Amino acid sequence: MAHLLMDSLTRTLLILIVIFLGGIVQKVRVDIPLRSPQINYTCPVTPLHVALCAHLNLTSVPEDLPHDLLVLSIRQNQLTELGNRSFMNYNQLEELNAHHNIIAFIESGTFETLPQLQVVKLDHNLITFLPIYYLQKNALLCIITLSHNKISSISSTFVSTQKGGNFYGWRNMSVVDLSFNKVTTITEDDFLPWRNCSVDKLNVNNNNVTFLQPKAFVHFSKLGILNMNNISLATFDVEYFMDHVKIDRLLIASSGIKYIRPVNMSSMQKENVPLIKELYLNLNILNDIPRYALGGFEKLQVLNLQENHISSINKESFCGLHTLVDLNLSRNRIKSLPRASFACASKLQKVDLSRNNLATLDPQWFDGSWFLRSLIIYQSGIGRIALGPWKAINLQTLVINKNNLGFLNHYTFTGLVNLKTLDVSGNVNSFGMSEDALTSVGSLELLVMSDVGKFTMEGSFRNMQHLINLDMSYSKLKISSIDQFAKASALRVLNMSGSYLKAQDLVDIHTGTSLFSGLVSLQTLKLRHNPLDTLHALPSMFTPLASLVELDLTSCHIRQVASGTFANLTTLLQLRLSENQITNISKDAFQGLHSLRVLQLQYNSIAFIQQGMFMGTNKLEQLYLQNNHISTVASNTLMPSSLIRFNIAYNPLTCDCHLAWFRQWLNEVEGKIDLAPENRIRCSSSSLKALVSQQIWSFHPNEYCRTNIMIIVSACFAPILVLTIGILVYLNRWWINYKLFLLKLAIVGYHEITEDQTPEDYEFQLNLMFHDDDEWWVNDCMKPFLEQRMPHLGRIIFGDADLHPGSFYLNAIYDVIENSHKTILLLSNQSVDDTWYMTKLRMAVEHMNDTKLEKVILIFLEDIDDDHLTYLVRLLLSRNKPYLVWTEDEEGQEVFWAKVQKSMRSNRQMNNVIPI
Ligand SMILES: *[C@@H]1O[C@H](CO)[C@@H](O)[C@H](O)[C@H]1NC(C)=O
Ligand SMILES: *[C@@H]1O[C@H](CO)[C@@H](O)[C@H](O)[C@H]1NC(C)=O
Ligand SMILES: *[C@@H]1O[C@H](CO)[C@@H](O)[C@H](O)[C@H]1NC(C)=O
Ligand SMILES: *[C@@H]1O[C@H](CO)[C@@H](O)[C@H](O)[C@H]1NC(C)=O
Ligand SMILES: *[C@@H]1O[C@H](CO)[C@@H](O)[C@H](O)[C@H]1NC(C)=O
Ligand SMILES: *[C@@H]1O[C@H](CO)[C@@H](O)[C@H](O)[C@H]1NC(C)=O
Ligand SMILES: *[C@@H]1O[C@H](CO)[C@@H](O)[C@H](O)[C@H]1NC(C)=O
Repeated sequence: MAHLLMDSLTRTLLILIVIFLGGIVQKVRVDIPLRSPQINYTCPVTPLHVALCAHLNLTSVPEDLPHDLLVLSIRQNQLTELGNRSFMNYNQLEELNAHHNIIAFIESGTFETLPQLQVVKLDHNLITFLPIYYLQKNALLCIITLSHNKISSISSTFVSTQKGGNFYGWRNMSVVDLSFNKVTTITEDDFLPWRNCSVDKLNVNNNNVTFLQPKAFVHFSKLGILNMNNISLATFDVEYFMDHVKIDRLLIASSGIKYIRPVNMSSMQKENVPLIKELYLNLNILNDIPRYALGGFEKLQVLNLQENHISSINKESFCGLHTLVDLNLSRNRIKSLPRASFACASKLQKVDLSRNNLATLDPQWFDGSWFLRSLIIYQSGIGRIALGPWKAINLQTLVINKNNLGFLNHYTFTGLVNLKTLDVSGNVNSFGMSEDALTSVGSLELLVMSDVGKFTMEGSFRNMQHLINLDMSYSKLKISSIDQFAKASALRVLNMSGSYLKAQDLVDIHTGTSLFSGLVSLQTLKLRHNPLDTLHALPSMFTPLASLVELDLTSCHIRQVASGTFANLTTLLQLRLSENQITNISKDAFQGLHSLRVLQLQYNSIAFIQQGMFMGTNKLEQLYLQNNHISTVASNTLMPSSLIRFNIAYNPLTCDCHLAWFRQWLNEVEGKIDLAPENRIRCSSSSLKALVSQQIWSFHPNEYCRTNIMIIVSACFAPILVLTIGILVYLNRWWINYKLFLLKLAIVGYHEITEDQTPEDYEFQLNLMFHDDDEWWVNDCMKPFLEQRMPHLGRIIFGDADLHPGSFYLNAIYDVIENSHKTILLLSNQSVDDTWYMTKLRMAVEHMNDTKLEKVILIFLEDIDDDHLTYLVRLLLSRNKPYLVWTEDEEGQEVFWAKVQKSMRSNRQMNNVIPI
């Protein structure tokens, strides 16, 4: 603690010194006078010759700016007029921004000195009058904005230059904006200056135009977008746009248009047809579309009539529109249509009838529409579809969502053999579908039927071999049998989110068959918001999904993740498990997910990250663990090296020395991995005191856990070390044993308290007792040993055979025990079971007790279970009495014999008796 305090004191001092020195340096710097050659202009000028004079309350154009200005911005000032001298000094000017002033008056020669001028922005002023010849010398002009002024007539603004002479003509313009003015009439002459010129965008919208001269736009060689929205024309007269006026898109929305006035077709010739491609008449008050309403619009492709009051349409309303592709009739008051309404517009591909009042949809309406591909009719109150068959057989997309459709049957879609997309979502009123409802639309690829209230799967998808995308989300699904997708082998996306499905609905408990059997191509499976809390008990659910790439189990009440749940999903890239209540993840839950890139586990109750959790996911790139209960991460948890994004914010991390490893890891990956949001990784209240609520970055393990780090480091190596030593010891165990034995012999061997008598003083030097079954060992092992190593032992008793003949058995035994220097008893599973043999052992021990000499050695020939050993033997072992264990290992036998040899030398004295 004390040295910490010192540290922080020193640090503070250092900081103070640095600040102090810094102050001096700064002072010195300030004292040096500025010698920059900069001249003070009225407003700043950038190196790119742009003068920024906005918001300076200027009342006139500054005159002191550099002469080579390219852009002058004097917007948002108090300028009231522009005069001939205003820009005299700036004849390089290319762009003039003078909008948002109060300019009312402009002198005739104002722009004459600006031959390079391309952009003039004068909008939001008080201009009432701007004769065009004021701009006639500015041949490069391409943007003129004059919106939000008080101009009442374009003619007075742009006075015809024919009389003015020497007009150079503008090149094609991008924008001419005259919107939000006071223009009431638009005539042909207004646009004379643009003769043979094209304009990308001409805005005359939001003027009170009540008179539009026929062919008013005829001088333009072409108009891109002509915006005439919000003018006051009551009638759309086709004649206005005749004589080859070329317009890409004509907008006349919200203009109060009540009628469309067609032209007398016999007066229309090839040379004078309107050349308009898109016509937007939306948001007007049209009631009906007359016969041949837009006859002559030979180039029209898009007609937008949405949000009018259209209630009736004639069979010939759209006649003459040979190139029409896209017709929008949404938001009108259509209740019904005549048969073959659109047959005239023979190229029609797309019709939108949404938001009308169609109680019944009749396939007949579209008879003759051979090219119709897309029919959109959402929210139109359709309660039933009249009996077909559909003759618009090329229809590919049918969108009839948010209607009141009830039951779909086999006849609903007959004829639609090319239908690829069907959207019936949001038909909440007791929606249903017969088993064969989709058989007539066998080429269906996308079916959206989300949000249909209740739906019982009765096998409608069983044979949909072309179906690629099926959305059944947010409906209450019932599954009649488990084989719903038996042959839907093309299905790639299946959305069953929010469908009230339980885990046991998805697997047949008896056969183990999964609902997803057959979906061999499925790549995306969404099961969000389903109560799948028993998922862990049904591990075979996802195994048929051999191509699965994305599995979404967000918010499914999942509490635990079992090891088999995601088995075999080797192609999975994204696994979403966020917003569950997961506390428990099996260690090998993610083992087989070899391709996994994204794992979302945020918003769960995970408390602990196990060491091997990410062992199999070695391609993982994004790991989300934020908002869990993680207090620690097991040391040396394998974090995939492929990680590029890791979020563990909002967890109660206990910053103590157990977490030191993790903290070090963070250090290593910082910069390489996106740890967003970094500053939310904080230490919980159970952390080391100084770290509570601090960011994890203030935890420097080597400050707090220096020794522990050593322990951690050695802990990493200790098992390896121990293992290594263990292996070495094991491999050389007999050699080590032998050396240790010799060492012991060298140190203490000759200082043991031994009896006074030598082996030679006894009648027998060795008495070997064994069970008949163990005789092989005596012959194969003991005898060769004695002959080779202890040839001096001449008097040896080899079992019962050598007993004194003629005596009683027990007496004879007692006799040899008493008169032998050593008695060796062989113990094996057979011998310990033999009562006679155990009596011999008892006699030998009794004798040992009498003489107080360790004259008896036990040799175990094999492993004997503890509970198999008699009490006496266990007692001997516990009292450290001499025993040896025979081994099959050759080196081990070497040690064994050495020990036998040693114990043969003398008899140690016992310091206690064996209580038998
Ligand atoms: C520029 O303006 C500053 C104050 O704004 C003034 O002190 C300085 O003398 C001016 N320099 C010139 C060259 O006018
Ligand atoms: C203006 O556009 C028309 C076609 O819109 C073109 O024929 C003419 O060459 C263009 N003129 C210039 C000067 O670019
Ligand atoms: C405009 O073009 C037409 C032919 O396209 C030509 O006859 C006419 O003289 C041109 N007008 C001007 C003012 O260039
Ligand atoms: C259309 O014009 C022709 C001759 O140009 C005329 O005979 C016919 O009556 C006109 N039709 C209508 C409906 O005005
Ligand atoms: C019809 O117009 C509405 C409103 O502008 C638009 O939302 C809809 O997409 C259009 N329909 C088609 C088929 O373009
Ligand atoms: C269902 O999931 C698919 C695939 O991700 C998605 O395109 C669709 O919008 C989802 N449906 C709903 C209603 O969210
Ligand atoms: C997983 O796949 C292997 C081989 O691809 C297959 O033998 C095994 O049966 C599958 N396991 C399950 C549960 O389907």
